[in-house]
Amino acid sequence: MRYTEDIIEEVRARSDIVDVISQYVKLQKKGSSYFGLCPFHNEKSPSFSVNRDKQMYYCFGCGAGGDAYAFLMEYENYSFPEAVQHLAQQAGVELPVVEESREDRARRDHKSMLLGIQKQAAGYYHYQLKQDCGAQARAYLDSRRLTAETIHQFGLGYAEKTGAGLYRYLKGKGYSDELLRDSGLFQVDERRGMYDKFWNRVIFPITDVQNRVIGFGGRVMGDGKPKYLNSPETKIFDKGRNLYGLSRARSSRRRNIIICEGYMDVISMHQAGFTNAVASLGTALTTGHASLLKRYTEEVLLIYDSDEAGVKAALRGIPLLRAAGLHARVVNLSPHKDPDEFIKNEGPEKFQERLDGAQNSFMFQIQMLEREHDLSDPQGKTDFYRAVAQRLLEFTQDLERDNYIEAVARQYSIAKEQLHKMVNSLALTGAGVPKSPKIRTTSETSRKKAEGESARERAQKLMLAWMVEQPQIFGQISAYLKPEDFTTPTYRKAASLLYEQQEREGTFTPVRVWDQFEDEEERKKVASVLNGDLPAELHRGEGKALTDTLLRILEDSLQEQRKNLKPGDIKGLQENMDKEIGLKKLKMDRGQLHISFE
Ligand code: UTP
Ligand code: MN
Repeated sequence: MRYTEDIIEEVRARSDIVDVISQYVKLQKKGSSYFGLCPFHNEKSPSFSVNRDKQMYYCFGCGAGGDAYAFLMEYENYSFPEAVQHLAQQAGVELPVVEESREDRARRDHKSMLLGIQKQAAGYYHYQLKQDCGAQARAYLDSRRLTAETIHQFGLGYAEKTGAGLYRYLKGKGYSDELLRDSGLFQVDERRGMYDKFWNRVIFPITDVQNRVIGFGGRVMGDGKPKYLNSPETKIFDKGRNLYGLSRARSSRRRNIIICEGYMDVISMHQAGFTNAVASLGTALTTGHASLLKRYTEEVLLIYDSDEAGVKAALRGIPLLRAAGLHARVVNLSPHKDPDEFIKNEGPEKFQERLDGAQNSFMFQIQMLEREHDLSDPQGKTDFYRAVAQRLLEFTQDLERDNYIEAVARQYSIAKEQLHKMVNSLALTGAGVPKSPKIRTTSETSRKKAEGESARERAQKLMLAWMVEQPQIFGQISAYLKPEDFTTPTYRKAASLLYEQQEREGTFTPVRVWDQFEDEEERKKVASVLNGDLPAELHRGEGKALTDTLLRILEDSLQEQRKNLKPGDIKGLQENMDKEIGLKKLKMDRGQLHISFE
């Protein structure tokens, strides 16, 4: 399903990003922008800005940025067409009926029918809980100390004993047997026909991030088996991409997300004020879970049962989380089995202390590694250290690795230098992990080079930001500086888009530049420039700074060009020399450079 560029542009133009974001974030006007607390990372003072003129948002804290569509996709987890539809509806723009293939339409209808069934079922179970037949279930939930408010918030329910009620109810709503079969809520039996999968169980509805019911878990009240029965995966229920409780946890405003094992754990944590808890649904953590979490947080606290299975689960989860760019820490609740039990016995304050004391996931891995070795045996000890050194090699940044070497050395009373040597020699023999980089000592020259590069980039970034903030200087600048002079590819592309708009239309719409970038990192970089993320320097934007920056970019461009000259390219060389002479002249009588912000 695709909308034309025109429609996408029209919907965007008819919406106001400040209005859109105000529905989610409390914004306050400050200067020409609106500021609020960033919904994409946790912060205490507002660094999330929304600009009406630019129709863009940008967070000076975490670098999140984009237009209204990007915001909705990030916040509501919408697909692009969904974001268009949402905005169009709000802006009162009628979307053309896009030609959708018959299969696509059928698939979409099927999915929305399945969602409808889950929603009806959740309502039915919740209603049953309040009826006479739900007395035992109510008593059970009470015995687990859930309040009426919690039961309501999580939409808990009860599936009555006969195992026929839901089927009858949904048939009454006119659903076909075929659809009901696809819902995962029924069993089929030759003799009995279709009957309810869940009966005489307390029901936990499972929702996706948009808070739509997609499946259920059902617990026996007592000791029956299985303890929990879960919906099977269906067209709308992918266990590897959904987490129980995330629709609530994602707006908890705590600085991390807690992952635990169970339905009841999530609910008791929420009830005790830890509204950032989620659980994987009776499955191991997947990369899908990790990237889902990464949308809402930077740090994950892992809580698994303290038994062997729990440790295994944590050890399996840590690399996945790390690969998704998340920090992970491991919470120890011993001697209690799980969060529910811990909170019941020790209370929320003690629980908070355990969260605060969560162990760095790397140190946790090392500690578990230690258990596999006999440290009283010289061989065992050597093997252990070697294994540790191997792990340490996985850190790609010198500073980070050094910090961990220090931490491990301290913890296991090894001489730091000793461990360092071991890591280094392991790196040299190439016995490290596959993609581990060679250990590089940051030599003076390489450090200088890195700084040189960043100064170069900084000049280009600054210039672009100026041209965005002070469009009146475009004419003066473009007389000297061409898009090709921007040597950093991202900025060159941004510059040429900016020049193109300015030259063709005499104005400039930042979001249309940003829109042309697809790579996530590039988008961030460009958003940062377009939103003037250069506070101090920008305000010092006097004529002199502007001239210096211009000369610097021209010089870098010249250097770059010379470096890329092919031997024998006489014409290129000539051009380059002409440019150099020009630049020398410019520098000599800078006074002639009539560039200013006035
Ligand atoms: P636990 O057995 O640790 O149960 O399973 P629990 O969460 O502490 O449950 P309560 O407190 O006794 O009610 C942890 C999670 O594993 C899945 C469920 O998601 C459960 O919450 N599970 C467990 C199942 O899916 N089926 C089972 O039979 C047992
Ligand atoms: Mn439990």
